Amino acid sequence: MQRKILVTSALPYANGSIHLGHLVEYIQTDVWVRFQKMRGNECHYVCADDAHGTPIMLHAQKLDITPEQLIANIQEEHEADFAGFAINFDNFHSTHSPENKALSSQVYLANRDAGHIATRTISQAYDPEKEMFLPDRFIKGECPKCGVADQYGDNCEACGATYDATELKNPVSAVSGATPITKDSEHYFFKLGDFEEDLKQWTRSGHLQEEVSHKLNEWFESGLKDWDISRDAPYFGFEIPDAPNKFFYVWLDAPIGYLASFKNYCDRTGVDFDEYLKPDSTTEMIHFIGKDIINFHALFWPAMLQGAGFRRPNAIYAHGFLTVDGKKMSKSRGTFIKARTYLDHLNPEYLRYYFAAKLGSGIDDIDLNLEDFQSRINSDLVGKVVNIASRCAGFISKRFDGKLASTLSEQALFDDFVNQADTIANKMENREFGQAMRDIMALADKANQYIDEMKPWALAKEQGKDQQVHDICTMGINLFRVLIAYLKPVLPTTAEQAEDFLNIEPILWSDIATPILDHKINPFKALMTRIETDKIIAIQQASKETMAVEQAVVEKSKTATNIEPVADEISFDDFAKIDLRIAKIVNAEHVEEANKLLKLTLDIGLGEKQVFAGIKSAYAPEDLIGKLTVMVANLAPRKMRFGLSEGMVLAAGPGGKDLFILNPDDGAQAGMRVK
Ligand code: 2FM
Ligand code: ZN
Repeated sequence: MQRKILVTSALPYANGSIHLGHLVEYIQTDVWVRFQKMRGNECHYVCADDAHGTPIMLHAQKLDITPEQLIANIQEEHEADFAGFAINFDNFHSTHSPENKALSSQVYLANRDAGHIATRTISQAYDPEKEMFLPDRFIKGECPKCGVADQYGDNCEACGATYDATELKNPVSAVSGATPITKDSEHYFFKLGDFEEDLKQWTRSGHLQEEVSHKLNEWFESGLKDWDISRDAPYFGFEIPDAPNKFFYVWLDAPIGYLASFKNYCDRTGVDFDEYLKPDSTTEMIHFIGKDIINFHALFWPAMLQGAGFRRPNAIYAHGFLTVDGKKMSKSRGTFIKARTYLDHLNPEYLRYYFAAKLGSGIDDIDLNLEDFQSRINSDLVGKVVNIASRCAGFISKRFDGKLASTLSEQALFDDFVNQADTIANKMENREFGQAMRDIMALADKANQYIDEMKPWALAKEQGKDQQVHDICTMGINLFRVLIAYLKPVLPTTAEQAEDFLNIEPILWSDIATPILDHKINPFKALMTRIETDKIIAIQQASKETMAVEQAVVEKSKTATNIEPVADEISFDDFAKIDLRIAKIVNAEHVEEANKLLKLTLDIGLGEKQVFAGIKSAYAPEDLIGKLTVMVANLAPRKMRFGLSEGMVLAAGPGGKDLFILNPDDGAQAGMRVK
């Protein structure tokens, strides 16, 4: 029977870039959704940017733009990054949308009218200069446990202690630097305790992973407390109906944003929204999330839905965090990798496969080991899967005019492959992607063994062996097709290219058992290339550079008075006079008596130039020789104490060790103009 499934991934904050940590979830969800669609189910995958809250409001103020502008810019960036990784949302929306405003009001009012909202006055830290209440993250001071300065209001990065913002010694507002005062305000609360019995029952009846369900017992043991769902102005969010200057806390309208995105999609496509939301719905609603936001999804969310007269989710699937090379992603090690940085260097399908190979149905963290990543892709995808097609395709096109034989010479081998369809489908359904990938690679090994044993290349040299060569290669291509079908949810772009090569319609799961025979295929083009080590190094280097630049901006904005004023405007014509060239550093040496300078000899294709550059704090001369950089080639020579400097190299960064000479792409050649 065809299932009807609404699937979501957690909504990313409209406050920063997508990085590889986020992608674990989007890739996991996308693979699952693509699998459901291949199975013939009606599956709708929606998401949105999570656009509200204090950090977004303050970020926009810092940039001197409106929050609406900020979230629009970020949404554009997010959508491009997701598209880059082939995350195939049916709809990507924003929580700052008319649909979300209407649904948030609806959910709130229904709960209020049913008696699930309470109000009471609470005291909170308040910034008297900025005239706003301060979330804990925006108060800094000395840790009450260890005394280290400059710690946030909720935990100490030095000793790990957690505490209340009111306990910080000498607190200051991170927004204005003023000393916070304590101020009273009336807040609105969602009475979670009203749902205690229902939640106990719901969390223990198969909607959650077992470990998640156990973890939630802690909440029940300490009693379900009222949840504060209001924030005072100024706040970027939706005003609460009948409560002027009070806004819904971002976490109230964020999950409702799932429904809002779906509503927006239903309105465009004619899908029946109400059918998915009614309490006795036979459709499924499934949320993929990270394990850090379980309480919002497995307690507050089902309770809010129930209170509003909607259905509750069928399942919440939580996953673990991403570590890189066994450690938390680190800006200084270059392992805090943004989606865009990865896309600038490598095929997104590699990461999709690697994550799939690592993912299971539990909440353990998964590790991206960069060396293992490289060797796994090179051996599994390039060495095993694609290799099968490349070993057989040439014979089919050259000797048989692109046409496959009309029968399968090894029916039993083909059956071995297609008989795995149910086992693999079960594993995919249960999010045991790692196990499924292992099964698929075992089949790929089998296909390669078959070709190794049959040696079509040797038979091709013998007289009268044409039929055998044709049969073997037809088998090889058919086995390849089955493998590609199994891998299609994970490698959608490669699968599409393979479908073009095989000259077939998009494969569905139900097509797997039908071989392609007496059928003309297209000439084979390499579907994937090996990952070379320099790409991995380039990603780490680029990540370090991006983070250093971002850090420099943060540092500067912390001490706004230190920001150098922008120099007088120059005209475009002035700018156009600057001749920027790619230069090869042919020599670099220390300059005696100069603390900061290196003497560089640069080749710009038109001869060599000597430049003194203040980058000694960041580079040893031997690290620079042979590298390309960007130089201002027509700067008038300047006589310095150590000699003549005939140009300038461009570098960026906060200074010290973190100073990066601009390093053009591989394809560049000395002498090329940069603009
Ligand atoms: O933790 C986060 O990144 C949140 N923006 C997730 C929201 S998910 C949902 F509830 F909207
Ligand atoms: Zn401390």
